[in-house]
Amino acid sequence: MTDKTTPPSQNSASSIWGGRFAGGPSQLMLDINASISYDKALFRQDIAGSRAHATMLQAAGILTADDLAAITTGLAQIETEIADGIFTFSEALEDIHMNVEARLAELIGDPARRLHTARSRNDQVATDIRLWLRDAIDGLDDQLRALQSALLTQADAHAETVMPGYTHLQTAQPITFGFHLMAYVQMMGRDRSRLADCRKRMNESPLGAAALAGTSHPIDRHQTATLLGFDRPMENAMDAVSARDFAVEFMAAAAICATHLSRLAEEIVIWSTDRFTFISLSDAFTTGSSIMPQKRNPDAAELIRAKPGRIIGDLVSLLTVLKGLPLAYGKDMQEDKEPVFDAEASLAVCLAAMTGMIDDMSVNQQAMRAALASGHPAATDLADYLVSALKMPFRDAHHITGRIVSLADTHHCALDELPLSAMQEIEPRLDEAVQTVLSIDHCVAARNSFGGTAPDEVRARIAAARKAFLEG
Ligand code: ARG
Repeated sequence: MTDKTTPPSQNSASSIWGGRFAGGPSQLMLDINASISYDKALFRQDIAGSRAHATMLQAAGILTADDLAAITTGLAQIETEIADGIFTFSEALEDIHMNVEARLAELIGDPARRLHTARSRNDQVATDIRLWLRDAIDGLDDQLRALQSALLTQADAHAETVMPGYTHLQTAQPITFGFHLMAYVQMMGRDRSRLADCRKRMNESPLGAAALAGTSHPIDRHQTATLLGFDRPMENAMDAVSARDFAVEFMAAAAICATHLSRLAEEIVIWSTDRFTFISLSDAFTTGSSIMPQKRNPDAAELIRAKPGRIIGDLVSLLTVLKGLPLAYGKDMQEDKEPVFDAEASLAVCLAAMTGMIDDMSVNQQAMRAALASGHPAATDLADYLVSALKMPFRDAHHITGRIVSLADTHHCALDELPLSAMQEIEPRLDEAVQTVLSIDHCVAARNSFGGTAPDEVRARIAAARKAFLEG
């Protein structure tokens, strides 16, 4: 059971904010309040923010050059201590901001106590998460580009590999595997542009907004914004400390991207079953069963299929925290970090695993072609042929083709195996020319409209995608 009394190690008020407190917080208060266990991930951003703030304070005449030198040296030491894992984090100091500040005071004394002039943890934390997410988005963008590159390589190799295209997971029309993969290249392209939009909007500096209303000290928020690589300072101090829409937007973009990945993951699961055998995953991305020796389970794909569950959960969790929350800062907002970190980590591992699977998978071209023998994938082509060769209205052509399909079913054969004489019983004007139209390679090559599945068109789109997504 948690001890509700004041912990022995914390029997006095916080040295950082405890001026008006006689006693210290209870253990329970520390338990619910402390965020250090997870916000320590922000240490580099927190230190970068302090460095920029101190530089600006010195330029504004609030810190001396000696203060700044001491602060800079102290911060560098703290950064090394944390990176090396030798920093002692204190729960009593609640969060990364106070842990760093307290250690700085231990190391350099007085100048550390001047660093918090004209800032608050409210603008500090908002700055830190924006900086962190900015880097995270850059990392995810690199990963998405790598996935697009893997998909493009496979698409190029399989620009002519025919397979059934499905609607309702029922055989629809013949397509190429390269064409199918290119659909995902485009989806990933939009995922990247969503993240880029989000990054652009979030790249404004909250620093110097202080608690909520700005400050009476002569600070230069433009300077800190520039030092931290932000495009500009946020226009309204209250908005600066209250806004979390940038984090919501990030998670929405992450949820959409993860959802795209889950669709590809599900296709990988389907394609690799022993009923389809369209692809085989490498040993690196499959696992065995502890009881069934023959099994090769697509666990990575299944987990990618599942991950949107938690990423969408992360998004909904922060939206729920923010809904109805009055301005400006409320401690509720401390609940922003774990969902953001979780969404980022979950998406990053999905992208890495998906790229590995795509790189390594082997494609069974025979099985893909064999699958086209059933389900009459050339039926639309037959109807189109009736329209162009016999000038039949499409609705009539659709009906006639339906009758020919059903005749093929009674003969237990594919459309291109049905004797011409049998087809002529339904439509006497048909001649041998129809056979060409029914060949799978013809069906695919004929769909050469922009963005269609014809191999030449797919190759043109691959070249355009390489240019748009991989260069520059
Ligand atoms: N750990 C806090 C958070 O993540 C930092 C801001 C605390 N601000 C405050 N007024 N108590 O939100």
